[in-house]
This record gives sequence, structure tokens and C-alpha cells, in this order.
Amino acid sequence: MRRAIFPGSFDPLTNGHLDIIRRSVPLFDEIVISVLNNPDKNPMFTVEERCEMIREIVPTLGGNGCEIRVASFSGLTAHFAREMQATAIVRGIRAVSDYEYELRMALMNRKLEPEIETVFLMAGEEYSYVSSTLMKQVVELGGRVEGLIPESVERRIRQKLGQESK
Ligand code: PNS
Repeated sequence: MRRAIFPGSFDPLTNGHLDIIRRSVPLFDEIVISVLNNPDKNPMFTVEERCEMIREIVPTLGGNGCEIRVASFSGLTAHFAREMQATAIVRGIRAVSDYEYELRMALMNRKLEPEIETVFLMAGEEYSYVSSTLMKQVVELGGRVEGLIPESVERRIRQKLGQESK
């Protein structure tokens, strides 16, 4: 059983995240999209809202034999991966600038849990500039984000910002 966790803040989910999940599907029997419960970061969405948005999208992904689950966690990613009996932690790399931070995290996670490998997947180049932060900012300021975040997520951002009618 090859189980991976795909940890992140997902505040909110973007098409870049979905791209990484699609690329993970052929590699694992089960992927647990793992949403960090991190109130210090002052997220736009509660952890429940973030999980709910992801759960709405998961059926459209076509797991093709790979089970895709959604869970939230607090504390260390490495400990959560062990708790889930995962053999891998999946992280997406968009550009070289992501690599240094990701490498430090991967090495720390390996120090904490030597049996669990971090697997880096390269996001499609069309998502190389997509981040949750940027997407929230662009929606807030009236820019177009089609193709970069799911429509349902865009609607949720607008609701949060009180822009439902736009
Ligand atoms: O989507 P993000 O914000 O890039 O995800 C970062 C995340 C959640 C993977 C990272 O901040 C994390 O693992 N946080 C949990 C605490 C932890 O394990 N810290 C040590 C990492 S070496």
C-alpha cells in the first residue's frame, strides 16, 4: 500500500495544487490531502471551509484506482505522516525559488521521520506563478483568475470578501 500525504495550507486550493494531485495519482494507492490547522497564519478560510472546498473538487479528479482523501492536522507534518502510516510526503515545486525552502523542510522531515520520503513533483509551467496568496489578492482587487483556481473556490473567496454580486 503506497500512501502519501500532500500537506499544505490550502488557503484556498488552487489549480496548481490540483495539478500536483493529478500528477500524484498514478504514483500512489492513496493520497491524503492534509490541511494544516494553523490559526497563527491568520487564514482567510477556516480549516473546515478549506477541507470542504477540497472535498467538493475531489470527485472531479478521477482517482483512477487511487483513493483521494482529505484530512486536517495540527503540529508537525512528519508526525502526521507517521500517524497516517504514509510512506511519502508530496510537495509541489513551481520554480527554483521554491526549492531552497522545500529542501530544508524535506531534510528536517527526514530527520524527524527517516523512513518517510519527500517526493517533489514539478507543477505545470502554466501554474508556476500561482499561489493562494496571489489568487486572493487578485480576486479582491477585481482581476480575473479563470483557469487558475476552481470556479467554486473563486465564488467562496468572493463570498468571504462580500463581493457575491460581481
Ligand atoms: O501550503 P504551504 O503553506 O506551503 O504548506 C507548508 C506546510 C504546511 C507543509 C509547512 O508549513 C508544514 O509542514 N507545517 C507544519 C509544521 C511543521 O511540520 N514544520 C516543520 C517543517 S520542517
